[in-house]
Amino acid sequence: MTIEFPVVLAPLAGYSDLAYRLLCRRHGAAYCSTEMMLDKLLLVDGRLRRRLVQLDDRDHPLAGQLIGGAPETMAAAARIVCQMGFDVVDVNFACPARKALARQRGGYLMSRPEQAVAILRAVLAAGAGPAPKPVTVKLRQKFRNADDDSAFWRIAEAALEAGAAAVCIHARSVEMKYTGRADWAFIAEVKRRFPQATIIGSGDVLHPADALEMLERTGVDAVAAARGVLGNPWFFRQVADLAAGREPYQPRLDEQRELLAWHFDHARRTHGPRAAKIMRKFGIKYARMHPAPTKVRAAFVNVSCSDHWQAVLEEFYGGG
Ligand SMILES: Cc1cc2nc3c(=O)[nH]c(=O)nc-3n(C[C@H](O)[C@H](O)[C@H](O)COP(=O)(O)O)c2cc1C
Repeated sequence: MTIEFPVVLAPLAGYSDLAYRLLCRRHGAAYCSTEMMLDKLLLVDGRLRRRLVQLDDRDHPLAGQLIGGAPETMAAAARIVCQMGFDVVDVNFACPARKALARQRGGYLMSRPEQAVAILRAVLAAGAGPAPKPVTVKLRQKFRNADDDSAFWRIAEAALEAGAAAVCIHARSVEMKYTGRADWAFIAEVKRRFPQATIIGSGDVLHPADALEMLERTGVDAVAAARGVLGNPWFFRQVADLAAGREPYQPRLDEQRELLAWHFDHARRTHGPRAAKIMRKFGIKYARMHPAPTKVRAAFVNVSCSDHWQAVLEEFYGGG
């Protein structure tokens, strides 16, 4: 699989849903990932699975990210993800949330490298067959700050040896969660050690210029942008502008309004009455693109229905 532009949308729980992925693609994201999907929820064909899995012809190539703690359930979920039409299966060994750690999944696996390898092998075996789908893995640098990097190398080496298509490295410990600085020197070392493999870098790509800087400083094949894209789906276009030596694109207020209206409309169609609550958190993120971010943020915080969203657009984004 070839990705045209090496800056892609990272998995973002609560944010990288179908509507947001489509918006990012509209502005240049050539590859996107779903948020993490709990393996066990995919095994039952019900309401929760329908809520998690949102596929659309315009949303490819797409990675479906899985989180879980047991090889059997992860393999079964991988099989379902492949059958449903995802293009790539991504395995999450990076999530630092307390619940994930308590349930022995996500970032917890950075402290149990042999269990992580067993999960990966099972997922890779599940993806094999007449039309195998690529399997990728998302890792943190280590579990605790005081740990050495040996678990990372054990899992990454085993993954690539067993046929993983790419390794994505978020260069923080699990213990750090999202604080402190990501260790880009470590990302560069990963690429140096695995020059033939596809390595995706993650961590502190907060502004469009950071994406180009990470590519240049670390030599990775691609960069996964996360917090920098929250509220700014124009991010990818802005990186392309910088790469071409142009000023980064700044959306006018009427363009922001059009996008925000489309997003709410789409959310209402897919989420029904839950849309207002879901869109509130997006609105809070979108506010940062507005010239009066504090006021707009405060207005979005109180949105409780579609009319209310519309009123905020009218008040702050110039009618329409
Ligand atoms: C709100 C939020 C949700 C996230 N959800 C996921 C997730 O579901 N799966 C995952 O692998 N990483 C997830 N991440 C981590 C990001 O993909 C990324 O690796 C991390 O934020 C570092 O990149 P950044 O410093 O550029 O934001 C999430 C991050 C944030 C801020």
